[in-house]
Amino acid sequence: MNNEVVFSQELEVEGGDFVRGGESSCRILEILKELAFSPAIVRRAGIAAYEAEMNIVMYAEQGNLNLTVTPDRIVIVAEDRGPGIEDIDLAMQEGYSTATDEIREMGFGAGMGLPNIKKNSDDMEISSSVGEGTRVQIVIRANHEGTSSEAA
Ligand SMILES: Nc1ncnc2c1ncn2[C@@H]1O[C@H](COP(=O)(O)OP(=O)(O)O)[C@@H](O)[C@H]1O
Ligand SMILES: [Mg+2]
Repeated sequence: MNNEVVFSQELEVEGGDFVRGGESSCRILEILKELAFSPAIVRRAGIAAYEAEMNIVMYAEQGNLNLTVTPDRIVIVAEDRGPGIEDIDLAMQEGYSTATDEIREMGFGAGMGLPNIKKNSDDMEISSSVGEGTRVQIVIRANHEGTSSEAA
């Protein structure tokens, strides 16, 4: 495995900011495109990063997305200061959401974010401390196109 870091960047995410929410994952998408990853890889990373970013926007106070790229893999770590997650197994279930009515009116809160991160990553690790914050690590292997039938 080649662990040489070819690119790394930290992007801020502000809790409650639904106007700029999505910008950091959009930047990650652009960076990965510029680094010439295949569209399938870029799409998977973009979806996972977006879901992690919006969870910070929706539920946390402040956080960041940390992108690290090596020749073999894309690693995105989403870390926040916020309420944390009491029951991670429950939060990982499809359809489970604690989104408020206000958030649902904006079209979020389907409870598919964490399951979608898992689906689109080769490895996902989530840890959380109630009252402190949450950390989601997303790994996507660069030589792995996923199961999508779309052209790479
Ligand atoms: N960063 C986070 N901080 C606190 N709670 C979170 C965070 N991310 C997810 N959660 C909790 O996990 C639940 C499920 O998240 P997710 O699958 O993304 O669905 P949704 O965002 O639609 O609610 C959320 O409703 C929330 O209770
Ligand atoms: Mg979500």
